[in-house]
Amino acid sequence: MKTLLVTNIKGGVAKSSTAVAVATGLKLLKPETKILLIDGDPQGSIKTYFGLKLQNSDKDFSSFLVEDTPFEDAIQKIPVGDSHIDVMISSRKLSEADIRMAAFHRREETLKGRFKKQNIQYDYCIIDSSPAMNLVLLNFMTFADYWLIPATMDAFAISNINYLFEQKKIIEDFYEKSPTILGIVPTMFDKRTTVSQQAYEAIKTKFSSKCQVFEPIGIDSTIKKAQVKKQIIYEFAESRAAEGYKNLTKNISRMI
Ligand SMILES: Nc1ncnc2c1ncn2[C@@H]1O[C@H](COP(=O)(O)OP(=O)(O)OP(=O)(O)O)[C@@H](O)[C@H]1O
Ligand SMILES: [Mg+2]
Repeated sequence: MKTLLVTNIKGGVAKSSTAVAVATGLKLLKPETKILLIDGDPQGSIKTYFGLKLQNSDKDFSSFLVEDTPFEDAIQKIPVGDSHIDVMISSRKLSEADIRMAAFHRREETLKGRFKKQNIQYDYCIIDSSPAMNLVLLNFMTFADYWLIPATMDAFAISNINYLFEQKKIIEDFYEKSPTILGIVPTMFDKRTTVSQQAYEAIKTKFSSKCQVFEPIGIDSTIKKAQVKKQIIYEFAESRAAEGYKNLTKNISRMI
């Protein structure tokens, strides 16, 4: 199983939009694959995105993680092309997970343990994370083999990305895990502004030797419109953002 964490400790940088675009894009690119998308944020953005509701007595990602409830109870199917992907949705309950896992033995590796114990098998597992650096995110970091960093091109971008490289080092030093930072995805990129251009150049200079700096995804209202209509961008309308995410997905599928 190929595990990809979409993360940045900054909020509102298109983590959820990117996680959905990559998970659904992979399904369209490789219809034969089994794909799991985990909504790893108590905001439940993915649940909202697809208009999903909790089913099965409120079983969701949080109960799977904290209580070891069967993962199937938390799964909902999202139609993509002629098939579907599985989504494990979250709710505000996930914000209590840190406290509830506090006394667990090897609590940072709870998620890894759950997958192993329940023998969960997919071709790809894509995780959308919240911007909070907490125990849940640490669990994603000890679980995912690959990390993808969406980032808006502004003055904070470099320090936030640096922080994730530092976290990767911590994971390597303490958890016998060596994740690969696949790359940085410049998001909501406005090529007309010099701030965006300068930040993009600075990011390339600083990080190109360490990871891929992908082609920017331009600012495009189609993304918001598709989300309002609860449709995936590829099926909503032709757009530059859809084209950008399609290329990103192809690159990712070649890399992992
Ligand atoms: N390329 C784009 N062009 C225009 N708007 C975009 C683009 N990508 C994402 N957005 C919009 O930006 C907002 C934030 O996106 P998103 O929710 O994906 O970010 P996030 O990093 O997951 O946020 P959070 O930290 O709150 O989880 C959303 O309203 C989304 O529709
Ligand atoms: Mg989000």
